Amino acid sequence: MFVAFEGGEGTGKSTQAGLLFDWLGRHEIPARLTSEPGGTPPGARIRALLLDPATGDLAPRAEALLYAADRAHHVHAVVRPALEAGEVVVTDRYVDSSLAYQGAGRALALEEVRRLSRWATGGLVPDLTVLLDLPPEAGLARALGRAAADRLEAESVDFHERVRATFRALADAEPHRYLVLDAGRPADELTAAVRERVAALLPGRVA
Ligand code: TYD
Repeated sequence: MFVAFEGGEGTGKSTQAGLLFDWLGRHEIPARLTSEPGGTPPGARIRALLLDPATGDLAPRAEALLYAADRAHHVHAVVRPALEAGEVVVTDRYVDSSLAYQGAGRALALEEVRRLSRWATGGLVPDLTVLLDLPPEAGLARALGRAAADRLEAESVDFHERVRATFRALADAEPHRYLVLDAGRPADELTAAVRERVAALLPGRVA
């Protein structure tokens, strides 16, 4: 089973992905926790290039290709091998982030970014995507309270509004594959909602 966490900045994806991973471990379900961009050693170098404000402006297509390159290697080196070994793979960000940030944010055609991601991943789609939804002002305030803005966080609120709207539209288009949660709710309620949905996908394996 392949689970992706998606959402804007400061929505708690990493926290919730980590808590799901720990919970699977407590139920002795083999699992792998990973993330994009930068889930592999070469990916970490691509990530540094993408997020460093010193990189400056990148052509939107170049940015999309770099995220796709990171993802192609991540799927090849981490995600598929783990799935083939029978592990539950939990990733912090995946294809929807490219559709939202490079598609809507950078205003590339969504269909083109989708085609690029499909090629990069060999068509690997998550069984479940958990969307942590939050107004950008709230999420950015949380994220910027932690560290200085990276190249994407430094974008306008309008950019992040388009990102949020696209995540929501993707979830609306395929409700059976998504769990949309209001990330403003208390963290323990979010954790419980994620567990309930994942347990339903693992019949008989968790109490
Ligand atoms: P991430 O490490 O998840 O940062 P954060 O913890 O701050 O959310 O992601 C880094 C940035 O990369 C984030 O601003 C979203 C952006 N991103 C894209 O623009 N496209 C993509 O395909 C991915 C995976 C991330």
